Amino acid sequence: MMHSLFLTTTFALLPLTTLAQPTGTLSILTMNVAGLPAILNNNDVPGDKADNANQIGTYFATYGYDIINVQEDFNYHAYIYETDNHTYRTATSGGVPFGSGLNTLANYPWDESTFSRTKWNTCNLNSGDCLTPKGFTYMRMTIAETFTVDVYNLHTDAGDDSGDITARASNLQQVADYISANSEGQPVLVFGDTNSRYTRTGDGIRIFSTQNSLADAWVELEMGGVEPTEGSDALVCENPSPIETCEIVDKVLYRSGHDVGLTAVSFEYAGDKFLQSNGSVLSDHDPVLVQFEWTVSA
Ligand SMILES: *[C@@H]1O[C@H](CO)[C@@H](O)[C@H](O)[C@H]1NC(C)=O
Ligand SMILES: *[C@@H]1O[C@H](CO)[C@@H](O)[C@H](O)[C@H]1NC(C)=O
Repeated sequence: MMHSLFLTTTFALLPLTTLAQPTGTLSILTMNVAGLPAILNNNDVPGDKADNANQIGTYFATYGYDIINVQEDFNYHAYIYETDNHTYRTATSGGVPFGSGLNTLANYPWDESTFSRTKWNTCNLNSGDCLTPKGFTYMRMTIAETFTVDVYNLHTDAGDDSGDITARASNLQQVADYISANSEGQPVLVFGDTNSRYTRTGDGIRIFSTQNSLADAWVELEMGGVEPTEGSDALVCENPSPIETCEIVDKVLYRSGHDVGLTAVSFEYAGDKFLQSNGSVLSDHDPVLVQFEWTVSA
C-alpha cells in the first residue's frame, strides 16, 4: 500500500524535475546488525554470524538504500563490507571492546571535517553497556549541490532498570544538545537504536521533539501523529513484524531545514526483506525503512 503511494508521488513530481526544481527522494534504513562476538551473545539469531553478516551486506547492495545506519556492527563488520557495495562508508571503530558498533553506508558523500564519534557521558554497568564505548555519530552529508543534511546514528544504554532509564535519558539529552549546538537551521535525520519506547516511563525519547523539533516517522505515518502515552500498554512487535502499528526501539526522527523541506512518505518494518535463505531472521532487531521526499526552496 505504502509502495504504490510512493510511486504515485514520484510520478507526480516528474513535471517539477523536468523544470529543474531541486527536489528528490531519499531512502534510509536503520538496522542493529547483532554483531557482538558469538561467544558473548548469540543475539537469539540462528546460524553462523559471519555468514549472516555476509548476507546482510548482500541485501544492502541489492536494495541500495541511500543511507544505512547500523549498530552493533562489531566483530563481523568485515563480512558486511565484503558483500556490500555502497560508495561511501565509515571506517570501523573496532570490535568489542574498542569500537562503538556504529557505521554509516551511503550513496552520498559527507564532509569528513564534520564527521565525529562521541562517547556517552553516562553508562549503566548491566547489559554490557560500559563494555564498549557506545555513543553517537554525526556527519553533514551532501545529497545535492543545494542540499546537505545532518545525519546522526546512535545506540543508547540498554535495559530497563532505574539505572538504565537514567543513563538512557542522559544519552538522549546528549544527542539533543549536540543537535542544538551543531545543526542550527539544518535538516536533520536521527536514526538508530534508541533502546526507548514512548510507552516506557522516563525513557526521555520525547526530548527530540521538545528540544529539537524532530518528528518521529513512525508516530507521524503509523500512529496518526499521536505519540503513545507514557506508561500505557505497549503493543509489542513480532520479529519480523507484519504490522507497523506496534512499537520497537529502533527509530527514525527528522526535521526540515530553513531552505529544505523534508517529508517522510512511507514507513516500514523491513525484516521480511532481510531473511536467511531458510526464512530465519538475520538480526534480533527488525530493520526500519523510511522513504523521504525533499524540496529545496528557491
Ligand atoms: C536456517 O535455520 C537454522 C535454525 O533454524 C540455522 O541454524 C541455519 O544456519 C539457518 N540458515 C541457513 C542459511 O541455512
Ligand atoms: C551494487 O550491487 C547491486 C547488485 O547486487 C547493483 O544493482 C548496484 O548497481 C551496485 N551498486 C553500486 C554502487 O555499484
